[in-house]
Amino acid sequence: MVNFKTQVTIIGGGPSGLLLSQLLMNEGIDTIVLEKHSKSHVLSRIRAGVLESGTVEILKQAGVGERIDIDGFVHEGTYLSSENKGFRVSFSETVGKSVTIFGQTEVTKDLYQKQEEREANIFFQVKNVNIIDPKCSKTEVIFEDEIGKEIKIVSDFVVGCDGFHGVSRQRIPLNQRKEYERIYPFGWLGILSETPPVSDELIYANTCDGFALCSMRNNNLSRYYLQCDVNTKAEDYSDDYFWKELIKRLPENSKDNLRTGPSIEKSIAPLRSFVVEPLQYGNLFLVGDAAHIVPPTGAKGLNLAVSDVHYLSEGLIAFYRGEGDKKLFNYSKTALNRIWKAVRFSWWMTTLMHEFPGTKEFDRKIKISELEYLSHSSFAQAHFAENYVGIPL
Ligand code: APR
Ligand code: PHB
Repeated sequence: MVNFKTQVTIIGGGPSGLLLSQLLMNEGIDTIVLEKHSKSHVLSRIRAGVLESGTVEILKQAGVGERIDIDGFVHEGTYLSSENKGFRVSFSETVGKSVTIFGQTEVTKDLYQKQEEREANIFFQVKNVNIIDPKCSKTEVIFEDEIGKEIKIVSDFVVGCDGFHGVSRQRIPLNQRKEYERIYPFGWLGILSETPPVSDELIYANTCDGFALCSMRNNNLSRYYLQCDVNTKAEDYSDDYFWKELIKRLPENSKDNLRTGPSIEKSIAPLRSFVVEPLQYGNLFLVGDAAHIVPPTGAKGLNLAVSDVHYLSEGLIAFYRGEGDKKLFNYSKTALNRIWKAVRFSWWMTTLMHEFPGTKEFDRKIKISELEYLSHSSFAQAHFAENYVGIPL
């Protein structure tokens, strides 16, 4: 067996793992990243890209902010609609902030480039990753590399950035962790089309037929979503059905702007809310989707992962600077405080904007009333905006 030593072993080469490795390496802290798939597989994932202003700042700290400034779309508000009546919530006029639309895949691509420039130690296509004993002062991680060679890494800390289906969270004994979950009784049918976006900002729509979202990647690449039955498959839905259903759910003043075209990607995503506590077990820490999942309605997934990385990197950097371990061992409490606020908002927005099976007429009237209140109340809009642009770090 080949042995390596490092300071921080990072399991997962998605946005969380790469950003953490980059921030730590910028401070001279040694890392090794273990990624289950190939780099091209990781970069093939289509993911949302609504970046909170705090996220943009942290990405710039890591040195990946250039393209965001050049290619990102700054949005100072968003449209919502109820029963085809649209209204706008201004982020800039309510909370003086904005968000930036910049694909997550592009963020991950830039992080890989920066990590390669730093000659980061990244193992791709690893198998059988096993965290030996997180309670041991020098924690061991054993895995097989892409040619099946068994490798052992000994490090001070191990960080699980391996997503919802990774191995890290499972390494915390069941009697030492508590999991909180809500699974929503619907999914999102999403398509990409090489068509100009229907609107200059996003549109979140609720009708009695269900939810729809209009988003974009660039001026000729649009991303649309329809609430759908989670027990169906993407191939069950023709493009023709998608466009007809989307038009039905759009606000009146947007229907004529919609440019349809063939879908170049079509998929269904389930919706769930999930949080595990705590985010630390001995020298093992959990970050990003390994620790929590939010329904995509509030576009919090990547932003929460970045704030976890921010808090944990601050703790690790303080530790290695000899400033003690207080910030590091407070990571779980600090991160969970912000995580639960984002989980709440994502749950609230999902519940407000979707139609639940078996909804009674009374519930429908309450929903319409709440959206009517949001459309007219500056206070309600400030609450929405404060959470959507991101609670301060
Ligand atoms: N060993 C090594 N790598 C693993 C393992 C494992 N056992 N299991 C999973 N991975 C890798 C996955 O291949 C993936 O590249 O860990 C990475 C986890 O990345 P993400 O799932 O993207 O999670 P994260 O980096 O926390 O980013 C969160 O991504 O899923 C979106 O909506 C989410 O936007 C949010 C962001
Ligand atoms: C997307 O562009 O994919 C997107 C945007 C906003 C969301 C979810 C997804 O809330």
